[in-house]
Amino acid sequence: MNSESVQAELAEPYLAGVLSSAGLDAEYVRAEGNTLYRRGPDEQEIPVIDFAGGYGSLLFGHNNPEIVDCARRLLDDRVPVHAQFSLHSGANELARSLNRIVHRELGTTEPYFAIFANSGAEAVEAAMKCAELDRVLKVKAVADEIAANIEHARSAVHDGLAEVADDAWARFGHAPANTQDDRFDAVTHGIAAHNAGQLARPPVFLALEGGFHGKLVGSVQLSHNEDYRSPFAALAASARFVPRDRPEMLKQTADQERGVLLDVVVHGGVVRVVEREIPMVCAMLVEPIQGEGGIHELSRADAEVIQQVCAAIDCPIVVDEIQAGLGRTGAFLASSQIGLRGDYYVFAKSLGGGIAKTAAMLVREGRYRREFEMLHSSTFAKDGFSTPIALKVLAMLEAEEGKAYRLAEERGAALRRALDAIQADFPDVVKDVRGRGLMLGLEFRDQSAAASPAVREVAATGFLGYVLCGYLLRRHDIRTFPTASAVHTLRFEPSLLLTDGEIHRLDTALRDVCGVLADPAGTVA
Ligand code: F0G
Repeated sequence: MNSESVQAELAEPYLAGVLSSAGLDAEYVRAEGNTLYRRGPDEQEIPVIDFAGGYGSLLFGHNNPEIVDCARRLLDDRVPVHAQFSLHSGANELARSLNRIVHRELGTTEPYFAIFANSGAEAVEAAMKCAELDRVLKVKAVADEIAANIEHARSAVHDGLAEVADDAWARFGHAPANTQDDRFDAVTHGIAAHNAGQLARPPVFLALEGGFHGKLVGSVQLSHNEDYRSPFAALAASARFVPRDRPEMLKQTADQERGVLLDVVVHGGVVRVVEREIPMVCAMLVEPIQGEGGIHELSRADAEVIQQVCAAIDCPIVVDEIQAGLGRTGAFLASSQIGLRGDYYVFAKSLGGGIAKTAAMLVREGRYRREFEMLHSSTFAKDGFSTPIALKVLAMLEAEEGKAYRLAEERGAALRRALDAIQADFPDVVKDVRGRGLMLGLEFRDQSAAASPAVREVAATGFLGYVLCGYLLRRHDIRTFPTASAVHTLRFEPSLLLTDGEIHRLDTALRDVCGVLADPAGTVA
């Protein structure tokens, strides 16, 4: 390498430029609790309060001492981190622990089997694959029955025990066909062509507009933002989206995707063609609170509609608890707070305690196919380092009769009060405050007609949300981000350790931002 390329930015250089233009090009050198530290010009550490919380993966804060101790012990004890394809009682204990908590919140005893993964998107894709396997096997069972029925009918016709119904012949027949055997062949050719067309159709997933479920080739197609999706649309799964406040539209959307195979029945000496429905909808994906899409809570009423529609069309529900779940909103499952029950649950982010990268997918027994375990695997999933850490996280959530859940609710309410008061004081600047527990969003009004020309200019770039975060960082040592698919909304997902002092600092900083946006001479650069 020549010296120039040694100096060059090679790790996502474009992104580094974007960070720099928004004033977010800080490098952090240490992290503890809700605080990240960066170095000032004279090398001293500058503390920055972290409201981004690792995109919601730090419910227990950065480098939580209990979790660090757990990790250290594991390394000191030389636990086998990678011993794939061997027994793993730690993973089993983790699965059992997840079941205990989920059973308590759902009031059910049906087992949920666990498949582990390394990231949120990967857990989502494990659920997608598991649901597709179940669908494919159900379709295959129908196709096998049809093949058997055709053979049975063929014999009956051949033996002179049955004749092809006139309407079946009229539908598929081509004259001349002299014998019943010829007629039967013509009809079954027609059936085979129809069925081949139906069986070649790809399945469809259902999801809500504004939803986000990851960025791998499958999961990105279930994430609503078209910018993420469309360049890769040819690669993988396809989804139909309905407006998040119109879940009743799921029914008509699913009806448009109906799949029908043709079968034959022999009755009273007549061979008739009948329709057999096959599942074409693989699964419905839903976040109890949309995160990346702008912090939008799913209402209890809409959750009920989703539940009813999915039950009516026998479509499994994958509840994506990756961001809202694991205690952040005051319960282990944010979905249980609104009465939504999943066939699948996916967890990631805080499951690794801010140290391990781990994720889990749960699937209830009634939807599970054991064959999946032989078809799906990952080198790093279910490893001996991350599973005990995840178990530790669950123990910390459940300790002292769920003190962590209560704390998330209480700290979230305190933060919410501050944000609500800001909205009340700056109604022309702040459009909305949303969310639950420690998953809150504050949406600014569109500033393209702001009093200040400087603000208008930034608003026209579409990057105002990021520039405001740059301002918060430079002027107030506060770190947060817009939700990436709804850039007027800033997200606040601090840890349980959030103090009143930190809320006060945010309050002061946001009031400054609101004042600047309202000021005809204001500038956020
Ligand atoms: N599902 C939800 C609800 C998420 O919020 C995310 C990630 C994922 C799935 C994918 O998880 O990144 O581990 O593969 N959300 C981030 C965000 C990117 O901006 O909130 P991943």
